[in-house]
Amino acid sequence: MKETNQVFATTNRLTLRRFHVSDIESFHLYRADPEVAKFQSWQDYQYHEAEAFVKNQSTHHPDLPGTWFQFAIALTETNQLIGDCALHTLLDEPRIVEIGFTLSKDHQGKGYASEAVHGLLHYIFKTLGKHKVIAFSDVRNDKSIALLERVGMRREGHLMQNYMCKGQWVDEYQYAILKSEVHRRDGSADSIT
Ligand SMILES: CC(C)(COP(=O)(O)OP(=O)(O)OC[C@H]1O[C@@H](n2cnc3c(N)ncnc32)[C@H](O)[C@@H]1OP(=O)(O)O)[C@@H](O)C(=O)NCCC(=O)NCCS
Repeated sequence: MKETNQVFATTNRLTLRRFHVSDIESFHLYRADPEVAKFQSWQDYQYHEAEAFVKNQSTHHPDLPGTWFQFAIALTETNQLIGDCALHTLLDEPRIVEIGFTLSKDHQGKGYASEAVHGLLHYIFKTLGKHKVIAFSDVRNDKSIALLERVGMRREGHLMQNYMCKGQWVDEYQYAILKSEVHRRDGSADSIT
């Protein structure tokens, strides 16, 4: 397996880059944190799962309809992995993509997730030329909802019992933003490589 150092977007403090095998330990640490996993599909995340995930992502390609691509979020200064954000190109309508995001607990509350999502939106609209970005959030996930609204996404729907989370049906909000609605603002992507 050949790894590349591909960079997809940069922001003031962050680089959205391809995952590397050297990220496995940090990735596993935050995915295994029960607080980080609270509103996510996984629980009790194992090291071997992190290993398989990172190895798969390190050679996967973004924008393949019907698949998710995970971007590593790294501090530009140190290249340290602090979280990830993801892009799901819809199979039936590839001009619409879904996004997701996760930060390690130590790096939350510093504006890094908003900054990374601004960079991701820039990549999706400017580089990939997509029409619309959507995201789903568990209605109880206040931090995720705040982030989606902070980056300018609009609540488009309340989907009843739409997702099975840890043995329980949960409601989700659907958020969206159109290409025509995106404005550049502080902290958005400075460059795309
Ligand atoms: C959802 C999640 C990514 C949000 O992370 P976050 O750090 O709260 O989000 P932001 O980057 O927008 O940071 C905003 C916070 O940083 C603070 N902040 C500090 N410095 C800042 C700066 N320079 N710029 C902007 N905000 C800053 C803000 O005041 C705000 O604080 P508050 O939460 O006390 O109001 C995070 O909670 C997470 O990873 N959760 C677990 C995974 C998850 O549930 N993902 C969603 C499902 S896909």
